[in-house]
Amino acid sequence: MRKLMLLFILLFTYGCMQQQPSTQSTEPAPEPVPLPENDFLIIAHRGASAYTTGNTLAAYEMAVQMGADYIEIDLQMTKDGKLVALHDSVVTLHDVQQAVADVTFDEIQLHSPGPEFNENPLAYTLPNFRDLRIVDLSEILDHFGDSVNYYIEMKSPEEYPGIEEELLRQLAEHQLLNREGAMPKVIVQSFDAESLKDIHAMEPSIPLTQLYKFRREAKLSKKELKELKQYASGVGVNVNAVTSKFIESMHKENLLVHPYTVNDEKTMRHLIKIGVNGIFTDRPDVASWVRNSPNRNY
Ligand code: G3P
Ligand code: CA
Repeated sequence: MRKLMLLFILLFTYGCMQQQPSTQSTEPAPEPVPLPENDFLIIAHRGASAYTTGNTLAAYEMAVQMGADYIEIDLQMTKDGKLVALHDSVVTLHDVQQAVADVTFDEIQLHSPGPEFNENPLAYTLPNFRDLRIVDLSEILDHFGDSVNYYIEMKSPEEYPGIEEELLRQLAEHQLLNREGAMPKVIVQSFDAESLKDIHAMEPSIPLTQLYKFRREAKLSKKELKELKQYASGVGVNVNAVTSKFIESMHKENLLVHPYTVNDEKTMRHLIKIGVNGIFTDRPDVASWVRNSPNRNY
């Protein structure tokens, strides 16, 4: 009898242990928000950067006039916590190379953003010099408000602790989060998956694009895809690696594809034919022309 009692107590205790609630949250991770499914989104890469210095107000103004759906902004953070629209994490000040993270926003104004524009063979006009300043994100958001859509790249987030929080703070301050409408006001992209996951955890309403640079044909393993789909809604891929097979495989997983950087009409038409969902381009005027072309004979 005692043995039977003991067995009963053991079985009862085991049963209770099995029902212990997990210490981990049972809340499912929020689903990534879908990207706009327009047949062909025009994302102005650093603005209309074929024609003036990228990441300046002038480049963004031009892009908007040329019919871009999104303006793309590269984001770095200065020593004094300003988010600046700048492609490189290093600037030359007084002939010395310095990390953006080590200089203030005022100091960075000494860096001329112009030389690459002068070297650009496509450049045909020099806009007002004032607009070629390096600007911070809040100035861009103040300038355009909700009249445009923003495609923001976390450029070197590992160098800037707190950059994700500051970005979300500014977007909230400008009332650009959780907006109704056919197209999200803001999309965030990065090569850095950790930065995107942090943003997804803090603000799941923002659609995210994971960037890749493939050496050969674009391809993702099942494992990579499974992880990606936890936080991202699409992929940004170097255009020379994109194939129709890759696009099909992404679409099967409900992931959209935005190749970068596409500047010629022929490639644009080819990409539309094989089903891309948008392109990053320095020439939004060409992309608009292709999109509006009455004879879409791709
Ligand atoms: O978003 C695609 C593209 O902008 C990433 O490359 O170097 O032009 O910022 P990069
Ligand atoms: Ca970029």
